[in-house]
Amino acid sequence: MNREDFPLLKQNLIYFDNGATSLKPKILAETISDYYDNYSANAHRGDYDISLKVDEKLEKTRDLVKDFINAKSRKEIIFTSGTTDSLNKIIFGYFKYYLKENDEVILTKSEHASNILPWFELKDELNLKIKYVDLDENLNLTIDNLKKCITENTKVISIALITNVVGDIRPIKEIIELAHKNNILVVGDAAQSIAHTKTDVQDLDIDFLAFSSHKMYGPTGVGILYGKEELLNNIRPIIYGGGMNSSYTSDVVRIYNEIPYLLEAGTQNIAGIIGFGKVIEYINNIGIENIEKYEKELKKYAIKRLEEVKEIIIINKNTESAIITFNIKDIFAQDLAIYLNKYNICVRAGNHCTKTLKEEIGIKNTCRASLSFYNTKEEIDKLVEVLKNPKIKEEII
Ligand code: ALA
Repeated sequence: MNREDFPLLKQNLIYFDNGATSLKPKILAETISDYYDNYSANAHRGDYDISLKVDEKLEKTRDLVKDFINAKSRKEIIFTSGTTDSLNKIIFGYFKYYLKENDEVILTKSEHASNILPWFELKDELNLKIKYVDLDENLNLTIDNLKKCITENTKVISIALITNVVGDIRPIKEIIELAHKNNILVVGDAAQSIAHTKTDVQDLDIDFLAFSSHKMYGPTGVGILYGKEELLNNIRPIIYGGGMNSSYTSDVVRIYNEIPYLLEAGTQNIAGIIGFGKVIEYINNIGIENIEKYEKELKKYAIKRLEEVKEIIIINKNTESAIITFNIKDIFAQDLAIYLNKYNICVRAGNHCTKTLKEEIGIKNTCRASLSFYNTKEEIDKLVEVLKNPKIKEEII
């Protein structure tokens, strides 16, 4: 779908690394260039036309994000630099003050480093307990296993909506219902889900959500922290400076702004945020439901075709997301990625920033093909053809 919108696809390239970052439609560079060429002022600081135009565009992106995830209020949408930044702000700005000694945080071993390491730091600081839900034989998080993990000390569940290696789609609505019945808050890492499936924060009733623009066809260096307004009213900034205060004096008296500006100290990535807004309009024009449907079919096709490859081990063939994680017997994952690169096929190899997963699957490194709506069945056929090469091991050695 819409391949002509992506300049990089005009090169002879098969791009299957959308889980790391997506390609960008031409409209993104055009929008960013327009800002730098024609109205590159700062935001919320000037009383002249081009600065007012920046304010308007920046706040328009906030509204577009609000509508995209169906948040109740624009105050609930905070611009950050990416999912990692958003998660750190949630964990050190909210949970640091909400949690106390012996409180329990529930994670899984298939979470990304950004949703594990900040919790480790907070655990050490507050003497918390970190618990991991057992994954089932398909590496899925089940409600039954989650129930077994919950105790009266459990205060927060922090999980991805879709994980970045296993690609399992979590039953997030049921998880949140269960959590709330037990007075547990839920933090959602939507980095891998936001561009691939409809997210409705009010329908989910999720407490916090974090995602990046660059995995949804937008620029790097822009992310979103969503939180329910009543929770964000109790969050503290972890970065202080201009734009987040309304006054302060030399005797240390200071008055800070309300959300969202409280958490947006310093000059933001203005060009990126404006570009991100344009890209949300672009996604809306295609329709996230159409993207989801197309990618599901493509994934099914890919699994069916890849199963023809001798000695392939597909780690997650039963998941429905756009992520396929695999190895070829006796070939080191990175060697395989380098071999595929010779055929202009881009996949990611390694542990994908998810280093605890090896404790579950017993495999440290894998290759990951993560699909998007501009990928095609013909590209999958090419991948299969190259993997079926009877001389593959000789070519790699
Ligand atoms: N988190 C990104 C990935 O999974 C970078 O590849």
